[in-house]
Amino acid sequence: MKKIILALLCAVCMIPMEAKTLVAYFSATGTTKAAAERLAKQHDARLWEIEPAEPYTAADLDWRNDKSRSSLEMNDPEERPTIKRCTDVTPYDTIYVGFPIWWGICPRIINSWLDNNLPQLEGKTLIPFATSGSSGIAEAEAYLKKTYPSLRWKKGLLMNH
Ligand SMILES: Cc1cc2nc3c(=O)[nH]c(=O)nc-3n(C[C@H](O)[C@H](O)[C@H](O)COP(=O)(O)O)c2cc1C
Repeated sequence: MKKIILALLCAVCMIPMEAKTLVAYFSATGTTKAAAERLAKQHDARLWEIEPAEPYTAADLDWRNDKSRSSLEMNDPEERPTIKRCTDVTPYDTIYVGFPIWWGICPRIINSWLDNNLPQLEGKTLIPFATSGSSGIAEAEAYLKKTYPSLRWKKGLLMNH
């Protein structure tokens, strides 16, 4: 009997622990993707790419053109680009949420993702991270806290290097 209990205990101990940290990110041109991969490695976390149903073309990303898709989206606070696949956030306690800075804040697709997962994100620790040309992350952090005050936001990370 003792032997059976011991064997069971060992079997239980050998089950690999589920990763409780998720790194979810959107990246239009690969910079935030590379930062997300570094973060996931550091924290032994699962990696999840937030992909738009319709990928962004170079023309869509032209911030000099006020009629480009990104300009139109960023000019409309209610815009919510459709996401390709939904995410199951329920297994995770801590979620890093990554994006490129667009016009000082997060791209609207991050709002789409947060809105889609809102009830399940309540009570979890959320850490924004971003890459940018030169901007800091403070404005994006303030925007996220103001727009989603019920979520538990921790200090953000700018991962340009
Ligand atoms: C539409 C658009 C708006 C941007 N706005 C800013 C900005 O306000 N400040 C900044 O420093 N960089 C800005 N950038 C540059 C990106 O934040 C930067 O290149 C980022 O690292 C790209 O990440 P990605 O390769 O993951 O898409 C902008 C880029 C685009 C396409």
